[in-house]
Amino acid sequence: MEKDPWSAHRIKITGVLQALCRAGAVEHRDFSYELTELGSDLHQQAPIFKLWFGAYASVLADAVAGVPDPATLVRGAVVAESSSRVGAQYLDETLLDLVASLAPRGRVCDLGCGTGSRLLAMCTRAEQPGIGFDISSTAVDAAQNTVRDARVLGVDLEIQQADVTMLTDTWPDVDIVTQAFMTHHIAPDDHCADVLRSYRVRFPRARYLVVFDTVAPASTSASSPELFAPGFDYIHALQGMEPRTREAARRVFAEAGYRCLREITLAVPNSYAWVLRPDDGAA
Ligand SMILES: C[S@@+](CC[C@H](N)C(=O)[O-])C[C@H]1O[C@@H](n2cnc3c(N)ncnc32)[C@H](O)[C@@H]1O
Repeated sequence: MEKDPWSAHRIKITGVLQALCRAGAVEHRDFSYELTELGSDLHQQAPIFKLWFGAYASVLADAVAGVPDPATLVRGAVVAESSSRVGAQYLDETLLDLVASLAPRGRVCDLGCGTGSRLLAMCTRAEQPGIGFDISSTAVDAAQNTVRDARVLGVDLEIQQADVTMLTDTWPDVDIVTQAFMTHHIAPDDHCADVLRSYRVRFPRARYLVVFDTVAPASTSASSPELFAPGFDYIHALQGMEPRTREAARRVFAEAGYRCLREITLAVPNSYAWVLRPDDGAA
């Protein structure tokens, strides 16, 4: 039986409504959303928006941001660059302190590293070499600037293009593995657990796996509209992907044979850092 439209598109609809609230086009009343005067005016112009942004969406996108990456069908360099800037603005201080608190004593590896700028910061602080992997060729091209910066700073940094769900080599010199804002792309849960478990073979001496990620909102009646969460929820819903809940993420870690030592709430909504340790008893 088909789900009703609200349940089937709950996250997408909530994302749009929250973004419209933020823009002042819609007001959230107790049990409803209503168009404001601005919203009503804009609504009159809907056919024009649809003409330019609907009919010519890919032309506009290609002109502004380049063509999509064949492996991911998204503009990988833009994802990497923007994600790195959002990280620098809201998260990196917390993330860098957290990794530094684990006192890295070998290579630091970042899976889905994007531009590699956070990896370089982690390695510089720890005075350790680094290796990053990203599936997107355009992200890896963009990361070459970071590799050049590393050379100037005297940090041994390598960035490779690879799908981390299918790694075949082993890196016994890696001490800490991080994976930031990409675990939600590895689905379903069983497959994600298999992939996380495979890291224990690929990085046999890594003491920690540190996962940073955004999860599904705990409730769709979020009261304070802001920009990140509705956009995140909306885009992933368009991709047919519903990020896992915090509880499901923790179940996946346990299933993959990791013990969660710490969970830290991050400044970006619905986002957490988890410090995981391979649990030999559950291997
Ligand atoms: C949202 S971005 C996060 C980038 C960076 N970790 C950060 O925190 O700024 C997700 C990144 O993961 C990469 N990615 C997604 N799936 C991947 C996979 N299977 N293997 C390697 N990289 C992947 C994407 O290309 C993208 O650069």
